[in-house]
Amino acid sequence: MATIKIFDTSLRDGEQSPGFSMTLGQKLRVARALAEMRVDIIEAGFPAASPGDFEAVQAVASEIQGPTIAALCRTVPRDIERSAAALEPAASKRIHTFIATSPIHRKEKLQMTRAQVIQRAVEGVTLARSFVEDVEFSAEDGIRTERDYLAEVLTAVIEAGATTVNIPDTVGYATPQEIRDLFAWLRDTVPGMERVTMSTHCHDDLGLAVANSLGAVEGGARQLECTLNGIGERAGNAALEEVVMALRTRADHYGLETNIDTRKLHNASHLLAAVTGNFVPRNKAVVGENAFAHESGIHQHGVLASRETYEIMKPEDVGVLKSQLVLGKHSGKAAVIDRARDMGFELEAHEVEDVMVRFKELADRKKRVFDSDLEAIITGKQAGTTGPWSLQWLSVVSRVSGEEDPTASLTLAHENGQTATQTGEGDGPVDAIVKALEAITGMEITVSNLAMRSISMGEDAQGESSMRAIIDGIEYSGHGLSTDIVAACAEALLEIVNRASRQSDRRGTREPESNAA
Ligand code: KIV
Ligand code: ZN
Repeated sequence: MATIKIFDTSLRDGEQSPGFSMTLGQKLRVARALAEMRVDIIEAGFPAASPGDFEAVQAVASEIQGPTIAALCRTVPRDIERSAAALEPAASKRIHTFIATSPIHRKEKLQMTRAQVIQRAVEGVTLARSFVEDVEFSAEDGIRTERDYLAEVLTAVIEAGATTVNIPDTVGYATPQEIRDLFAWLRDTVPGMERVTMSTHCHDDLGLAVANSLGAVEGGARQLECTLNGIGERAGNAALEEVVMALRTRADHYGLETNIDTRKLHNASHLLAAVTGNFVPRNKAVVGENAFAHESGIHQHGVLASRETYEIMKPEDVGVLKSQLVLGKHSGKAAVIDRARDMGFELEAHEVEDVMVRFKELADRKKRVFDSDLEAIITGKQAGTTGPWSLQWLSVVSRVSGEEDPTASLTLAHENGQTATQTGEGDGPVDAIVKALEAITGMEITVSNLAMRSISMGEDAQGESSMRAIIDGIEYSGHGLSTDIVAACAEALLEIVNRASRQSDRRGTREPESNAA
């Protein structure tokens, strides 16, 4: 199978859009995640735009190994020289130079003739080639450029030494059929096209960026420019996770593959969301919380019988542990029994009816039935009061600068009458709480998911925290509600610890009071 190169521009097109700016440290974290995922090219920034951008490209070029590092620049000498300087430390580097080619851009923005644009493009590519072997040329607003003229521009830049030619849909105007035809025509018309990589870069103004990118692939594109979570100018770019999973899931149709380790998609997407403070929408394709969640009874029954009834991708292939059956009023017996089993309760046939009656009563009153609710139903106790551990005291110190890490001190009381106090230090306040809980309980806690949201307005707004964590190879969920969001996380973690504690009691695998002082 031929390979499609994945060119990620989260740190350039994504970062330049409102609400998505990142510090140097944050850019490096995202770049590491992209490299781990094995993207082919990371566009790290636009060095001539600002000293900060220059520094970021230089830092990514120095640290990141594996992918080619690209820097964007106009076709003007100063821009190109800045890109070359910033990319200096990279083991594998690419200068990406662009000029607009469409009639409206030529007339209104550049005030240049067709011939002047071609001359500038050729000069830019020639200068870029004097610094690096790998030069990408982009015909900005290529989709709205006259076909014959676009072919002329691309012929000239290929002759000048461009190794990749990118035809962007800068304003998200194309349709999938149109872009496929254009790429096929360019592939067959432009001399030398067979020697270079044809690339596309689609914006999402009409919600067609992914469909258009795949259309371009059908027409011969072999590089896709995209971003994590589809961030980018205006409505954004094609979402990396979507194009990659579309190519993989429909390999029967496209007959192509990528180098991406798809198991890293979920974490990279959520890392970007956390770093920029823009949460991934629940219903986001591939990486949203609902992407592998099923609530309706009919769907849950189908998935339990055979996952393929309602899932076209395996959750583990995108880095999600397993499909999630969300318990609510639409859930049926099969899902409740399955969830109870995951929580360590094997329901006897005679118990199921009674549990279902109480489950439906509760589900009618609540939107979602959490593990704690189900456990309360099964054990006949009240939700939230079923744990051996309870929180007596919590003090958290966050720090935004300085050498020291955030700390959390907690005192827990055990139902056997003992209390324990420990202080933990971590990367953030929640991590510090995890460390303190580990010290008290002796458990190893790996947080696999954390979602926080405000569920009311005003000064006394309630914050809700939903967490999932793995203890002894089992994933548990916990839920906390407080006017203090960090305290809500502590509550959620405590619920997880209590659930794990009871689970191991049932299995007889853990001494619950082992570390209690
Ligand atoms: O959207 C666009 O045309 C771009 C180019 C600079 C590649 O971002
Ligand atoms: Zn763009």
